[in-house]
Amino acid sequence: MDELVSLCKRRGFIYQSSEIYGGLQGTYDFGPLGVELKNNLKRAWWESMVYENDNIHGLDSSILTNQLVMRHSGHEETFSDPMVDCKKCKSRFREDNITDNVCPSCGSNDLTESRPFNLMFKTNVGPVEDNANFAYLRPETAQSIFTNFKNILDTTSSSLPFGIAQIGKAFRNEITPRNFIFRVREFEQMELEYFVKPGDDEKAHDAWVQKRLDWWKNQGVPINKIELFEVPTDELAHYSKKTIDIMYEFPHGVEELEGIANRTDFDLGSHSKKQEELNINSKVLNNSDSNSRLAVKNEDGEWLVPYVIEPSAGVERGLLAVLNEAYNVETLEDNKTRIVLKLKPHLCPIKVAVIPLKKNDQQIVEKATKIKNIINSMSFGRVVLENTGNIGKSYRKHDEIGTPYCVTVDFETLDNESVTIRDRDSMDQTRINIENLNNFLQDNLNT
Ligand code: GAP
Repeated sequence: MDELVSLCKRRGFIYQSSEIYGGLQGTYDFGPLGVELKNNLKRAWWESMVYENDNIHGLDSSILTNQLVMRHSGHEETFSDPMVDCKKCKSRFREDNITDNVCPSCGSNDLTESRPFNLMFKTNVGPVEDNANFAYLRPETAQSIFTNFKNILDTTSSSLPFGIAQIGKAFRNEITPRNFIFRVREFEQMELEYFVKPGDDEKAHDAWVQKRLDWWKNQGVPINKIELFEVPTDELAHYSKKTIDIMYEFPHGVEELEGIANRTDFDLGSHSKKQEELNINSKVLNNSDSNSRLAVKNEDGEWLVPYVIEPSAGVERGLLAVLNEAYNVETLEDNKTRIVLKLKPHLCPIKVAVIPLKKNDQQIVEKATKIKNIINSMSFGRVVLENTGNIGKSYRKHDEIGTPYCVTVDFETLDNESVTIRDRDSMDQTRINIENLNNFLQDNLNT
C-alpha cells in the first residue's frame, strides 16, 4: 500500500486534503491524473448502466437533504456505529476495533460502554443557526432516487422493471477513517436502484450480482481477487432482505468493494403517503409528511409498491482496486526496475503522449504539436505533448502513470510522415504512418 500511496502523491493522482494546514482526516483531493482516472471509471459505470439499458435513467440530485428524508429513510434512527470512548486518553473507536477491552491508542482498559454514534453530517441552511434549520449532507445517494421516483416514472413513462442511476458525493462521519481512500468521510458512490415487481426481486438480484462481477472484471479487477459474501441476517442494514457484498483483496485485507442489496419495498413504502392503501410488505414508519404516492398500478388496477435491487459501489474503493491491480514493478534486461501502471486503456488518465526527439528543434517540436492536435481531435481522451528532451525519462514517467502509448516524433517524421509508437506493456516500438494513427488507436484504445 505504501508504494501505491507514494506513487499517487508523487505523480499527482491523490493528495491529502487541506494538506498545507495539516490536513483534514478522512478527506482527499484528486490531482490532475486522479481526476481523469476517476472520471474514466465513473464514465465506464455510467455507460454500462445508463447507455446500455434503455430502461435505466440518470439522475443528479442535491447533496443537501431535507431532514424528513433521512427521518423516513430510517437513517436518523439507525444509521450509527457502536462506539467506545477511552476515559484516559479521550480517543474514540468503533467497538469492532477494540480487542480485549483495551484502548488501541494508550493501552488503558478504562473504557466507556458502547454507545450508538450517528454517522450523518448536519449543516445549517439559511442565516439562522438553530436546531430547526438544518439539512443533512446525504450519507448515500440512494435516498434522492427514491424521493424522485414519481418524477422520473412520470417524465419517462416507464414501466416495471426500470432503474434510476446516480453518481455523486456522499458523506459519513466515520469514527475511524483509514487505509488511504478506503474509508473516508467524503466519497462518491455509483448507485443504481432497479425497481421490479415483488416476486421478480430474487431473480433480478442474482442477475445484478453477475453483471456487477463482469463489470469489475472489465475494469481490470480479476475474479480470483474477489469473494462474494452474503451478509448474515443479524448484520443486514435495516432496509435489506438480502445483501451480497463484493469483497476484494485490498492491500490491507479483504473488504467490501460494492454491496448489492434487495431493499424490498422498504424505501418507496417509507417515503409514501397513504401507506395503508398500498399493501406494503416491509415494516415502515407511519408517514404523514410525504405528499406523494410512490407506487404503480398492477394489471388489476391495484396499487403495488415496487421492490428495489441496489448495486452500490464506492468510487474511491474502485479506484484503489484498479490502481492496486495495475501497479507492477518489473525487472528489465539491464537489471534496472521500472514501475508500470497497467491500467485498462479506457481508464488511463492520459491516452497518448507525443514526444519530440529533440527539445529545442523547432521543426520537430512544431510537427509534434501538430500531431498532438491531430490525435486530440480524435477524442480518445487526454493527449499531452511531452517536451522534456529525454526520451528514456519520458517513457519511464508515462509507464508510471499508465499512458498506453507514446508517439515519438523524429527527423524521419519530417522526411516521410512516419512516427514511432511505443507500447507501455511490451515496450515494443513500431514505425507507422501518421495517417494510420487513427486506425491504430481505434483498435488498441477501445479494447
Ligand atoms: N445505498 C447503500 C449504501 O450506501 P453501503 O454499503 O453503506 O450501502 C455502498 O455503501 C458502498 O459505498 C460501499 O460498498 C463502499 O464501496 C462505499 N462506501 C461506503 N462507505 C464508505 C466510506 N466511508 N469511504 C469510502 N467508501 C465508502
